[in-house]
This record gives sequence, structure tokens and C-alpha cells, in this order.
Amino acid sequence: MLRVAVLVSGGGTNLQAIIDAVQSGKITNTSIEVVISNNKNAYALERAKKNNIQNVCISPKDFETRTEFNEALLSELDKYNPDLIVLAGCMVVLPESLIKKYPNRIINIHPALIPSFCGTGYYGLHVHEKVLERGVKLTGATVHFVDEGTDTGPIIMQKAVEVKYGDTPEELQKRVMEQAEWVIMPEVINLIANGRVEVIDGIVKIS
Ligand code: GAR
Repeated sequence: MLRVAVLVSGGGTNLQAIIDAVQSGKITNTSIEVVISNNKNAYALERAKKNNIQNVCISPKDFETRTEFNEALLSELDKYNPDLIVLAGCMVVLPESLIKKYPNRIINIHPALIPSFCGTGYYGLHVHEKVLERGVKLTGATVHFVDEGTDTGPIIMQKAVEVKYGDTPEELQKRVMEQAEWVIMPEVINLIANGRVEVIDGIVKIS
């Protein structure tokens, strides 16, 4: 059984896609052990509660220093002994100590096709605003392993989505979520849970 911890910050639609996929059997061999949010008002926490999943808020605002927050986050995660940490719309910068502790065991969903429209400052709706400003015709989503950089870790899966003329950032975000994010995130977790994902010299091989 793959023990998963999900880190969230907001609405939690990706978390919901994961929960649904576990319940419907699209994801096998997996248990969601805990949902951790840095934001106490995140609707993602409600989703966890509704599904009887342990949930907790650990906010940098509740600690005097970033180091104390980092330590609290690490020790909370340790309690659940996770095999995989899933960043599902998690907007906090993870401590380096956490990334070092879980090499190729943390995955993130990014709402664009890496290496375009990613890196520092590219998150949430802002990514779609930038995509529309540039006028690209294809965008999408990427699931990747997390390393010390921002959106630089090995790419596991990507799915392209069409950009339509006149899209608003919100319309594009919705299409990217529906057609790409909610599809590839559960798919990747299932592949990892079933031992089908390897990283060879920084490149992901799916068997
Ligand atoms: C998603 O679109 C996700 O790709 C994005 O935040 C949204 C969270 O939505 N993540 C990032 O931008 C990370 N760089 P959700 O809370 O409904 O899953």
C-alpha cells in the first residue's frame, strides 16, 4: 500500500480527483493518510473531513520563524511515514530539508507544459494569464518530481490542452483542470503505487 500525504493550499479540486480515483479503484494500492494545508480556510480541508481523511493546518503565520514552521511541517509528515508526498495546489515553498529527505518521493502538479510558463512566480491563475498574453495555442499540465529548484524536477507526465481565442484566464484554468490536471495526477499516483515509475539519470521511465 502506497502511503500518501497530500499538501494543499486552496480549493482542493486535485485532491478531490485523487480521492475519487482511490474510491472508484482507478488508483489502486494507495491510501491517503493525511491532508496538510498551510491555509486554515482551504476548502481542501473540508474535502478531507468529508471523506474521513486526517487533516491538519500548519501555517507559517502560526510560527515566529520559517525554521520553526519547516520543523513543524517535517515532524507532522513524519508521523504518517509517507511513501509519497503529493503537492496538489500547494503554494508554500518547501524546506530543502524536506526535499532532501524524500528524493523522488514528492510530486507536484503544475498548470502548464514545463519548461514553459513555470518557475518562480508562476502559480495558479497567473500562469494562465501569462499563457494568454503570449498567445500560445497549446497549454496543459505537468506532473513532475520535486527537486530543490522551482518546477525543475524530472517530468513524469504531461497533457496538452487547446487555448481558444478569447479565453479568459478562468475559462482556460477550468479547461486545463478538467482535461489535464484531474486526469494525469491520479494516473501518475496509480503508476507510482504500482511500481511503474523509475527515474534514470534524471529522466522518468514508465513501464
Ligand atoms: C491547480 O491548478 C494547480 O495546478 C495549481 O494550483 C491549482 C490548485 O487547485 N498549482 C500551482 O500553480 C503550483 N505551482 P486545487 O486546489 O483546486 O487543486
